[in-house]
Amino acid sequence: MAGNIVVLISGSGTNLQAIIDACYEGRVNASICTVISNKAEAYGLERAAQAGIHTVVLDPKPYTDRETYDQALGDIIEQQQADLIVMAGFMRILSEPFVQRFSGKMLNIHPSLLPKYQGLHTHQRAIDAGDQEHGCSVHFVTPELDGGPVILQAKVPVFSEDNANQLAARVQVQEHAIYPVVVNWFVEQRLLMQQGKAVLDGHILPSGGYANN
Ligand code: GAR
Repeated sequence: MAGNIVVLISGSGTNLQAIIDACYEGRVNASICTVISNKAEAYGLERAAQAGIHTVVLDPKPYTDRETYDQALGDIIEQQQADLIVMAGFMRILSEPFVQRFSGKMLNIHPSLLPKYQGLHTHQRAIDAGDQEHGCSVHFVTPELDGGPVILQAKVPVFSEDNANQLAARVQVQEHAIYPVVVNWFVEQRLLMQQGKAVLDGHILPSGGYANN
């Protein structure tokens, strides 16, 4: 079993909380050894501290460029002997060397039905496009931003009166449901990335992930 998880955050940490709870309840068969934030004020750091998890703040300001920051971040992760790196609202673009360094060991959750709406403001973009459904995706991280193979998605309806906050809240309920499931697949060594594809229980997943329809 791949037992040591490092979680990267920048903000509220509700996905982190969902994974903390899932570890505690035995739905994820592993433990979080360290939570790293690029922002000292991230509320997720409180959540980690309350759960007795070691935290690190790595402020980008002293670093001259992205590569140097990512090198330092990668060194911390390596010191923790992390088996899995879970990005949970970590709002930084990762340099290619960093992604290559941890290739196949890094998961991200993104608030859209990828490949739709890579990048920011996904909820507003779904509303503006008149989409009737929206959702979230868990995927392996590859050098292409929000472009790695999708493992699992969850869909929600978009109602005509929705604003971005209401839609985000509906999507987040689903994020908290699907992220621990995927993390557990990984730690139980059922899930891996092979030649750029997500493979679960020996089967290559379709482009929309496990629950593709
Ligand atoms: C989540 O909704 C996640 O999908 C999104 O940030 C939020 C973090 O919330 N991630 C991205 O937009 C990454 N591109 P949380 O801090 O409460 O887990």
